[in-house]
Amino acid sequence: MDHCQKEIDLLTRCLILADDQLQQIQSLLMNSFNDGLKRETNPVAPVKMFPTFVREVPDEKNKYVEGKFLALDLGGTNFRVLLIELVGDELHHETEIYTIADELRNGTGEKLFDYIAECIFLFLDKRNLVEFRMPLGFTFSFPCKQEGLNSARLTTWTKGFKCTGVEGEDVVKLLREAIDRRNDIEVEVMAIVNDTTGTMVSCALQNKECRVGLIVGTGTNACYMETIENVELYNEDITDVNQVVVNTELGAFGDNNVLNFARTRWDHTVDQLSAEPGKQIFEKMVSGMYLGEIVRCILCELTQRRLVFGGKGSVQLMTPKGFKTAYISAIESDSKDDYLYTRQVMAEIGLRHATQSDYDMVKLICSRISTRAAHLVSAAVSTILNKMQRPYTTVAVDGSVYKFHPHFHQLLEEKTLQLVKPEIKFDIKLSEDGSGRGAALVAAVATKQDIQRKISTGNRLAFEPVNRKNSRMELKQFLKSCNETF
Ligand code: BGC
Repeated sequence: MDHCQKEIDLLTRCLILADDQLQQIQSLLMNSFNDGLKRETNPVAPVKMFPTFVREVPDEKNKYVEGKFLALDLGGTNFRVLLIELVGDELHHETEIYTIADELRNGTGEKLFDYIAECIFLFLDKRNLVEFRMPLGFTFSFPCKQEGLNSARLTTWTKGFKCTGVEGEDVVKLLREAIDRRNDIEVEVMAIVNDTTGTMVSCALQNKECRVGLIVGTGTNACYMETIENVELYNEDITDVNQVVVNTELGAFGDNNVLNFARTRWDHTVDQLSAEPGKQIFEKMVSGMYLGEIVRCILCELTQRRLVFGGKGSVQLMTPKGFKTAYISAIESDSKDDYLYTRQVMAEIGLRHATQSDYDMVKLICSRISTRAAHLVSAAVSTILNKMQRPYTTVAVDGSVYKFHPHFHQLLEEKTLQLVKPEIKFDIKLSEDGSGRGAALVAAVATKQDIQRKISTGNRLAFEPVNRKNSRMELKQFLKSCNETF
């Protein structure tokens, strides 16, 4: 190591979290979880621990209706519409991706929901399905207070969304209103879920011990199955259940400054430059929306100190969001001998003059940032596993950082193993596309319950096979499920 490299190594050592720091984080997070769960402390707790209306995983076929469902997935850079067909415990799906432009992210809620309704129309129209009334599961990946399986109030936007008139509102109602404004499609929103819940439910179809859902993508969050006595905010009217999925919203861990001991000056800068300073502190150290930005801030400082790139930066390096998180995954996939991706990344951001030694240093910084992220997630996963005290649990994971980073899974698994109580065994599994598929599954369970309720009470079905033009698809679905059960 030359003199510059030694200095860079020293300057960025604060990014390495020692085991005793991670243990401290575990115990702080456990306190935050408990504060969120208790009625008395919840109002001021940053980690909200929202009880959902999902109380079981659909691990037996007779719990859901087979057939076709629509699923919407809103929560990151893109918006997706999925058509999902459930046959036995198999899921087949077709997906269409629609981008959410910055104007939409920063505009009015009405415009956002009108756009969503338009995408649903385009999706159905392309498949000649406009005339059918479809049951729908909505994955809405923002902090929401659930008021029912198909009713959820947004508490606060995250991940750079700022649409007006949505915070404090029931987002299913806003979606319905947008659909009514068009008057050319009909859907029945059966369920609204967070992406963590969707991921868990979808994985549970094949993995019977799956009780944790984790997202490490644009944002970060986890849900898990909690025993009902621990969830003080749970609606006591419902007495026949002993467990419920809790959406932790752990991305907000640290919003009361408890994580400051582990944060660096670069974390503070990224927070200050973000759309919501002071909020989602844990998420900002872990997720795809921010990791590239932390690397950029470090590289800017090192350039100013003349420790990299001969002291000569580039416009893109100096521009916020100029270093994508995907670059980290690419750079860390390189072998030291060729630096194939690193060279291309450097060229793309105007740093063609970077040397071999610069490549080494860029890779070191990327790896310190992604390792720190993986270790923080390990602290979170192990805290949840320790809290649940199940002998064996599958953790379902989705999200771009987890999926595309070459070592994230391994780092996460190894550190979780060190941090979890020795008697607790676990498995970490990719639940690809779980969030959208899970919403459809929850909708399928809700449809089944709705049908059973109808049959036992004689009431009108929420999901009734309506003849928009003699719809046959839903009727078939309806009959099939009735035959199965009764
Ligand atoms: C949101 C969560 C979501 C997570 C992952 C966070 O910003 O608050 O609701 O689960 O991102 O998408």
